[in-house]
Amino acid sequence: KIAILDFGSQYTKLIARRIRELSIYSEILPYNTDPADLADPSIKGVILSGGPRSVFDKGAPALDQKFWEIDKPILGICYGLQLMCRDFNGEVVSADDREYGPANLQLDHHNSPLFKGFEAKTRVWMSHGDRLDKAPADFHILGTSENAPITAMAHNQRPLYGIQFHPEVSHSENGLTLIKNFVTDICGCAQDWLMKDYIEAAVEEIREQVGDDHVLLGLSGGVDSSVAAALIHKAIGDQLTCVFVDHGMMRKDERKQVVHTFKDQFGIHLIPVDASDLFLGRLAGVDDPEQKRKIIGRTFVEVFESESKKLNNVTYLAQGTLYPDVIESAVAVGPAQTIKSHHNVGGLPEKMHLKLLEPLRDLFKDEVRQVGRLLGLPEVMVERHPFPGPGLAVRILGEITREGVAVLQEADAIFIDMLHQWGLYNEVSQAFAVLLPVRTVGIMGDERTYEQVCAIRSVSTTDFMTADWSRLPYDFLGEVSSRIVNEVKGINRVVFDITSKPPGTIEWE
Ligand code: XMP
Repeated sequence: KIAILDFGSQYTKLIARRIRELSIYSEILPYNTDPADLADPSIKGVILSGGPRSVFDKGAPALDQKFWEIDKPILGICYGLQLMCRDFNGEVVSADDREYGPANLQLDHHNSPLFKGFEAKTRVWMSHGDRLDKAPADFHILGTSENAPITAMAHNQRPLYGIQFHPEVSHSENGLTLIKNFVTDICGCAQDWLMKDYIEAAVEEIREQVGDDHVLLGLSGGVDSSVAAALIHKAIGDQLTCVFVDHGMMRKDERKQVVHTFKDQFGIHLIPVDASDLFLGRLAGVDDPEQKRKIIGRTFVEVFESESKKLNNVTYLAQGTLYPDVIESAVAVGPAQTIKSHHNVGGLPEKMHLKLLEPLRDLFKDEVRQVGRLLGLPEVMVERHPFPGPGLAVRILGEITREGVAVLQEADAIFIDMLHQWGLYNEVSQAFAVLLPVRTVGIMGDERTYEQVCAIRSVSTTDFMTADWSRLPYDFLGEVSSRIVNEVKGINRVVFDITSKPPGTIEWE
């Protein structure tokens, strides 16, 4: 395996992810890990991460000098390179401006194993303040760029490498090749580690953390909480209890599917709560979007809390937090943030005096899907588009009624079904139907109709912060429209939303 010493970079876990992509196991350790522990023969090499500090800062993280006596390949990235340079008596200078963004790496040294397969010029991604002015005596320069005369260096005899750029981010061309060169050719790791092994390790970790305690999980039916449930159940079986709160604005047959999968198939201790009367009762007469969200959020916490009070000796609350959520809450503050904290039952653990269990917090969405598949979750569940916490409430404009929910569920199910039939479901990021509080005149058979309008929305996005509307084929749209109008009583007109985000949001409310 590879040890990654963490100096606090926001990209540290991305390094681990890249190594996982190469089917090699890695472990993130604190930068001040005892060098003696790193001597463990299972560790084939060490990567020093970047970090937000300057090596000149007082109290900036530094390495125990014994670290450099370890006889293993070492790759320093950004801050890691600067430490390497300083500790070997090279010159690091503090820069006034940060260099952030793309740069051209010009390789001077073509036969370095670190750059096997590289062209002489490569685009790389930089994010640093300080830079190297002079390489240490025993090192030679491998590459330069406009703003960093020493962008890559290597020791003359030992397998010590340092690079100023971030090979782990996707903007660095050939970044993965560089990491592969280091971990396979230089460190000699075999590419035989599988996601299956990840699951085994996660299961062990959950068992260790939880011991004999009991865990509560709010299951929403979405990918993240579903995979978390299956994984935790594999680890601790009946010590896990899941609560599924049906607020009455779920997708068609959602409660049935969740109960079928988790209770019947997995044998998970699941408490489905039908709280639809309570939710819909409180929403009666409310048409303001913010008001609706607030009522649903508050009621959700109330129901969840009262259900959990019925359970004895629960000490952990499990959540399906993913790595991008962790980053987002650390870095981004914006409207998306408030929306998220609002509906991921934020604040519940403190309020209920529970400890948090987040077994997916190192993983990215595609990896979570892979784990879900390996755990035997059905494909439809694993591939599912995201669904907002308040559910169909934000897709029924104006007042929410039981009838409105039923009408929208049918229309939405047809749209989703058609996307599957046409093989388009996995091509788009999120798709759904919206029910408008507008009635229009139509004609069906010989009869005049006066019914509601349904909008269909489909977007493509990678991060859901920006999105483009999907260019769905006209014939497909035509079929969806005629099926909805023919099969759903209450809708006689279908429109297609062609607004990107921004200026629109993905949801309509
Ligand atoms: P917007 O509409 O803000 O949506 O462009 C971006 C993404 O967030 C989802 N969304 C929510 N998810 N609770 C959630 O868990 C919410 O209250 C909520 N509101 C929007 C939306 O479905 C889209 O994927």
